[in-house]
Amino acid sequence: MRVSLADKSPRPAVPRMRESGTDLGRARRRVRRSMFRQADTAMTTTSNFFNPVTTQTWTNGRHQVRCVKQIQETWDVRTFCFMAEQPVLYFFKPGQFVTLELEIAGEPMMRSYTISSSPSIPYSFSITVKRLPGGQVSNWLHDTLKVGDELVVHGPVGSFNAIDFPADKILMLSGGVGITPLMSMTRWFFDTNANVDLEFVHSSRSPRDIIYHRELVHMFSRIPEFKLHVICENKDDIGEAWTGYRGYLTQPMLEMMAPDFLEREIFCCGPPPYMNAIKHILRANGFDMSHYHEESFGATPLDVREEARELAEQAEAAAEEFDYAELVQVEFAGSGKSVRIQPGETVHAAAAKLGLHIPKACGMGICGTCRVGLKAGEVEMDHNGGITDEDVAEGYILSCCSRPKGNVVVDY
Ligand SMILES: Cc1cc2nc3c(=O)[nH]c(=O)nc-3n(C[C@H](O)[C@H](O)[C@H](O)COP(=O)(O)OP(=O)(O)OC[C@H]3O[C@@H](n4cnc5c(N)ncnc54)[C@H](O)[C@@H]3O)c2cc1C
Ligand code: FES
Repeated sequence: MRVSLADKSPRPAVPRMRESGTDLGRARRRVRRSMFRQADTAMTTTSNFFNPVTTQTWTNGRHQVRCVKQIQETWDVRTFCFMAEQPVLYFFKPGQFVTLELEIAGEPMMRSYTISSSPSIPYSFSITVKRLPGGQVSNWLHDTLKVGDELVVHGPVGSFNAIDFPADKILMLSGGVGITPLMSMTRWFFDTNANVDLEFVHSSRSPRDIIYHRELVHMFSRIPEFKLHVICENKDDIGEAWTGYRGYLTQPMLEMMAPDFLEREIFCCGPPPYMNAIKHILRANGFDMSHYHEESFGATPLDVREEARELAEQAEAAAEEFDYAELVQVEFAGSGKSVRIQPGETVHAAAAKLGLHIPKACGMGICGTCRVGLKAGEVEMDHNGGITDEDVAEGYILSCCSRPKGNVVVDY
């Protein structure tokens, strides 16, 4: 039985309702029930924080959480803060992400979002989401998710984090909403008084698009070893006065901001063209890329179209020189279905051909959403840190980036 101070506390006074049979009465009763629920939740969680026995620690898995606060960061970016019904210490590695499991218009949807808060403030965690025109989940979160609503998250996971690559001198490079993992790391360094020499370079479309601007200025004004450089890309239609760097990040700009950039551990997150430009600069200067770490948020519509075109061309070419003997069989033991696919196709694609929907979020071996058990056979798995060595040893694979080397049996 759960015992908490809240169980003994009087409920808050709520005006009596008389319109029992009317729509207004029903609506008010709904509001009153919701007020009781929210007040109970707040009191229960607050009181339980001081009970080390009932306070649990977050571990990678599937968790029900409640949205407790929303903060409008810019006109199209909002932060959503979450807590659990029972108190949980949200420990994770700054830079890691969660994957939301949602149902929108009857369709199951999963999307990954970086945890933008820091584990140094562990009783809640937050994600910061940018609206994408036509994007299903980002717009649903902005338009529909309300404070008090519950949803399911998977995680935390991700190898792009500040703990696994400790360094004294760090360069963070972010573009747009790619700032979220770097913000989590910076908040962590700031809160824990980390002895880090940090150069933070953020590229934004325009001044009004700078996410966390005031908080960044505050943090970076208090620590001499932290230096902030903001670039606004939009040269013509800035909209607000901007006296800082303008345009796209170039090597001369980088040299002015961080002359020793080649000596730093680099963390980079932004749109693919932005990260490609950075890598180009680094490679051209002979940078040791083992000190470069990046996070990709996934394909842009352009990338999606490009990929679709490439796949169509590949399929056409493959059809001409098709060798049926090369086909490999993928059997799904759980559903009793099997299919023959061409070498190079993924286990996830094989499942899709059979109408089997293995949940998928990042599609690039980052988030771990598409993990399945491999019962027999071997695969070539080209992942990006979304699976641990322990999981691999136990026979799990990420279906989105696993290509059978021969006939395989998958537990799905
Ligand atoms: C590890 C990780 C961390 C992430 N962290 C963040 C974060 O902190 N903040 C954040 O805002 N996002 C983050 N993302 C991105 C996020 O997961 C979603 O991809 C993003 O919010 C868009 O989802 P959506 O459902 O709104 O858009 P979708 O419905 O998936 O569509 C995305 C865009 O593509 C277009 N589109 C979709 N399909 C096609 C098609 N076939 N052809 C052409 N165009 C198409 C849509 O119109 C839209 O503009 C992260 C992703 C990953 C993998
Ligand atoms: S969908 Fe994210 S790892 Fe496969």
